[in-house]
Amino acid sequence: MNEIKIFSPATVANVACGFDVLGFCLDSVGDEMVIRKVEKKGIKITKIKGFDLPFETELNVAGVSALAMYEVINPDCGFEIDIYKKIKPGSGIGSSAASAAGSVFGMNELLGRPFNKTELTQFATKGEALANGCEVADNVAALFGGFTLVKSIQPLEVLQIPSPNNLYATIIHPQIEIKTSESRAILPTQVKLSDAITQMANLGSLVHSLHTNNYKLMQKSLHDVIIEPHRSKLIPHYYEVKNAALNEGALGSGISGSGPSVFSLCEGIETANKVRDAISKVYSKTRIEFDIHVSKINTEGIKIL
Ligand code: HSE
Repeated sequence: MNEIKIFSPATVANVACGFDVLGFCLDSVGDEMVIRKVEKKGIKITKIKGFDLPFETELNVAGVSALAMYEVINPDCGFEIDIYKKIKPGSGIGSSAASAAGSVFGMNELLGRPFNKTELTQFATKGEALANGCEVADNVAALFGGFTLVKSIQPLEVLQIPSPNNLYATIIHPQIEIKTSESRAILPTQVKLSDAITQMANLGSLVHSLHTNNYKLMQKSLHDVIIEPHRSKLIPHYYEVKNAALNEGALGSGISGSGPSVFSLCEGIETANKVRDAISKVYSKTRIEFDIHVSKINTEGIKIL
């Protein structure tokens, strides 16, 4: 096999109380990429459709992660990467992570899978760092399916968390751009001890609720007392969207990654669709264009098309 076409999905990082450590994978929105094995050594970005992104390998997140893997394995071939970008950069649903993980996933398949998921996540994190300004692995880890918790970055340790079967996400993506590096820059460097305790308790009980299919506990745990108060200021009508989702029965709602997308988790597709209609109404009254997606949690992650 010399060529592979893949679907690299969008992801939701942080999931309210799990800043920089928790993430989950979506299945209704994502990029497509074609990765090709060629004789000429090196990594080349050969096509980018959808958005205006750099072709220079070292300036492109897919190129940087590909190079990180290439330098380790040093194969006697090269790779070309075509990117069909559907996830808007700066949307908060893991646009850079999809590119960064997609290239290394595809190369790994063409080379006969020399690397495992954790090693691929490590290479992808190098690409993701170009977009974030620091190494954060919550979006890239989630690309390998379901809910994931990044236990540590150095050395990289990722835990797979089960995902209840009837869990759906509704994501609204207002068409404004928030750069991850900028929305990180507004965060405080220190937090109150009482807030840290609340956040730890919520994250622990959220993870427990995922293991035990306990939707009631999930609902009580999906709260963020540390990051949301700061980043919500960057998202127009944030609390109106959140309240509309909660009023329609969402288990919880929060900022997806670094925003501006807002996610809601729901038990069952009927509730997820009702939440979609309610939050669409909020944004329809504004002049801001938006996309909205309802998705089951994708437990497979990146896949071959
Ligand atoms: N955890 C990261 C953040 C996700 O919220 O800044 C974006 O990479």
